[in-house]
Amino acid sequence: MKFFIDTANLDQIREANELGILDGVTTNPSLMAKEGITGQENILNHYKAICAIVDGDVSAEVISTDFNGMVEEGERLAALHTNIVVKVPMTVDGVKAISHFTKKGIRTNCTLVFSSGQAILAAKAGATYLSPFIGRIDDSSWDGIELIEQIAEIYSIQGYETEILAASVRNPLHIVRSAQAGADVVTCPLSAIMGLFKHPLTDIGLAQFLADHKKANS
Ligand code: E4P
Repeated sequence: MKFFIDTANLDQIREANELGILDGVTTNPSLMAKEGITGQENILNHYKAICAIVDGDVSAEVISTDFNGMVEEGERLAALHTNIVVKVPMTVDGVKAISHFTKKGIRTNCTLVFSSGQAILAAKAGATYLSPFIGRIDDSSWDGIELIEQIAEIYSIQGYETEILAASVRNPLHIVRSAQAGADVVTCPLSAIMGLFKHPLTDIGLAQFLADHKKANS
């Protein structure tokens, strides 16, 4: 399973990249706004800065909602860097745009996915990645992981090549359960990635090893 970091914060992207386990980055308009990145030129430059840090796919989301706007914006984003993946919302115009990008060889990430029906449409359109929002599903008392399992089963039966990218991840358990459910990629905040390292018995065990070594060598 590939690991993407879900942020537009350059320091966090660098920190995750230094771990040596990072495969890419996802952003969205809210994450860009959170970093204070506004205006078309600054936004495009920010994507270039992310691509300069990480050698992996970087999802850049369109903000247009109509087909022509998405196509124009997506083509501009894709021209920024070979690692840019155009992120397109799961709407009627979005699916049309994904289909258009597929024919042009531009890679896409279909975002805001909340059902298996939507997952089938995105795969039919040739999306490179599909982003089911598991945290937001859990927030509304449904089961996000169950959706990943269902989509993984459908994609396997049908032979769809679209990669399942578990998004809206809130914690380390979401990462583990996404891996178990058959996600190809998980995109997570840095805090969820760092949470995977934690186990008290690791800390206790290491302290004991070091103490024994010190005693035996003093
Ligand atoms: C990433 O692709 C998504 O935009 C992101 O994971 C959404 O996360 P949120 O539900 O925490 O806003």
